[in-house]
Amino acid sequence: MIPEPLARAPARAHDLAGRDILSVSQFDPASLGAIFEITDEMRAIVQRDGGTDLLTRRVLAALFYEPSTRTSASFIAAMQRLGGSVIPITQGVQFSSVSKGESLPDTIRTLEQYADVIVLRHPVVGSAKIAADAAAKPVINAGDGAGEHPTQALLDLYTIRDALGAIDGLHIAMVGDLRFGRTVHSLTKLLAQYDVRLTFVSPEILRLPLNVMNDLRDAGVDVRETYNVADIVGDVDVLYVTRVQKERFTDLQQYEEVKDFYVITPDIMRSARREMILMHPLPRVTEIAESVDADPRAAYFRQARNGMFVRMALLAAVLGKA
Ligand code: NCD
Repeated sequence: MIPEPLARAPARAHDLAGRDILSVSQFDPASLGAIFEITDEMRAIVQRDGGTDLLTRRVLAALFYEPSTRTSASFIAAMQRLGGSVIPITQGVQFSSVSKGESLPDTIRTLEQYADVIVLRHPVVGSAKIAADAAAKPVINAGDGAGEHPTQALLDLYTIRDALGAIDGLHIAMVGDLRFGRTVHSLTKLLAQYDVRLTFVSPEILRLPLNVMNDLRDAGVDVRETYNVADIVGDVDVLYVTRVQKERFTDLQQYEEVKDFYVITPDIMRSARREMILMHPLPRVTEIAESVDADPRAAYFRQARNGMFVRMALLAAVLGKA
């Protein structure tokens, strides 16, 4: 909606007013710092009062063409804790006009007649951009297929910063489905702007896409790949584990072969540093044993909670109220 030259990294959060959030490439360390400051404020507000009336009479349309628990619930909770309200079009998509064959631009153009901001999750890479081009109101990408998931990357980065202080100097390992995992794609792009070491741990068929890897190398990031968690677990500040994205496989036999490739257990965590964190965007299937949850380094539920605070900050910012 805002012309392309302006759609680049905002130095201050109020520059996000009226803007779409489609990709992490819109952000730089300065704008992230500004968003995280607002996020800190949102967290304090929720802890103190449960919420505020900053977005009273504002309406969010939450359009989810793919299953979601955390992303949809945290956007809804974020809007409600800011005093706004929500049109949820989630699991019911099959009952809506979408199932009658309506095009995405038509659905978006209609929803923006009712809402001030649209959150979209869609199975097709690039769909958020198509929606944003159709809309005059801000569109927030809540996951476009195996493409990007920018708000998840922001909450991931916020969680790392919150737990470990600075981002610079960290060794971060990503484990699991690096090929289809959009949270990995967005988070690595964001981390490339910092002075970090990245290790990618996956079976051969789930390796990080070459274009993402090349972008990291071009950005001068120290990147390594391995098959084996044991190689790196003792040396990382962050172990970011992901679910094997069953829904993206065309060959389910192949999925069966890799689905249980990694399982983080208390035994593996015994080799990890004391001050590291174990992250996961959730939902978890088998890749982290439940017996790890009581470990204070297991950060995934805090991570989900931070998602609500980050999304409060982003909604306030795109609606010009940050
Ligand atoms: C992730 C997603 O949808 O990409 N979940 C989420 O938003 N927290 C990860 C996943 O589904 O595995």
